[in-house]
Amino acid sequence: MQKPADPHLTDAWGLERSRVLAVRGGIQSEVGEWGGDTVFVKTLLTDEPEAALRFDHEGQIAAQLDHPLIVPLIACGPNRLIFPFVAGPTLRDRVEGGPLSPAEALSVTWGVLNALAHLHDRGITHHDLKPENVLLAGGQVCGERVRLIDFGMSHSRTLPHDIHSGTRMGTPHFMAPEQFRGVRGDPRSDLYSVGVLLFDCLAGHPPHEDALGWLVGLSQDRAPLPGPPELHPLLHAALSRDPQDRPQTAVQMQTLLRDAAHSLGLDLPDLGNPCP
Ligand SMILES: Nc1ncnc2c1ncn2[C@@H]1O[C@H](COP(=O)(O)OP(=O)(O)OP(=O)(O)O)[C@@H](O)[C@H]1O
Ligand SMILES: [Mg+2]
Repeated sequence: MQKPADPHLTDAWGLERSRVLAVRGGIQSEVGEWGGDTVFVKTLLTDEPEAALRFDHEGQIAAQLDHPLIVPLIACGPNRLIFPFVAGPTLRDRVEGGPLSPAEALSVTWGVLNALAHLHDRGITHHDLKPENVLLAGGQVCGERVRLIDFGMSHSRTLPHDIHSGTRMGTPHFMAPEQFRGVRGDPRSDLYSVGVLLFDCLAGHPPHEDALGWLVGLSQDRAPLPGPPELHPLLHAALSRDPQDRPQTAVQMQTLLRDAAHSLGLDLPDLGNPCP
């Protein structure tokens, strides 16, 4: 694809009826029509080489993924990434309306783990899992409606450069302690973030009020584990400081989730229950 002379001239890409949603960190996001589909478009607006490298890296990672619970990259160019537009709120929007029920929280967490298993199988670690990066297609709070987005922080074993090495980018509340120390590419860091996400869904807030204090080891304070006691061993393990004490794979964490759901008399989507 040709780089348009001016990235604001969206019609150079055949994007129609576009509407800018946000401009942040030199990246513009907009919704528009492209080839008859409604699309979500990210456009890099800066010439800064490092920003361009990061943007290109995000596109290369998204291009490797092919899973129903991950928003696919449908086209890309030197300064533009085009995804299908997902109509629906983020999980953050939904949690702001109040904590989820255990059934909703487990179902959504199951969906996130399903998407993660696909990533991890491909040697990719997301490194920025949080409710803002989980869309709920159609607004249903259900695992099958999960659409994972935003590979801007991700690490891939197969790409030559780790452009984020040595950085502490990410969101402190959701970041595993070893990720904060600069460890990249350990899938168990994502499982820690899933533990925080599950906690947040059930409690309406993340576990550590002083997230930075916890990350540097100065604070051990954690809010009481939320939700029914059947979920506490899973939450406790996933939130461990030491990655060895967490579930070791997304699939293993799904099994623990399913066992907890069974003991609560709940069914999860991978047991053959589509969203209602
Ligand atoms: N395919 C999509 N369909 C609909 N909305 C989307 C899509 N992808 C992203 N969004 C919305 O745009 C927001 C930002 O997208 P994304 O997470 O990919 O970028 P970001 O790098 O985190 O940017 P920001 O700093 O603006 O959050 C998401 O939280 C979501 O609300
Ligand atoms: Mg994001």
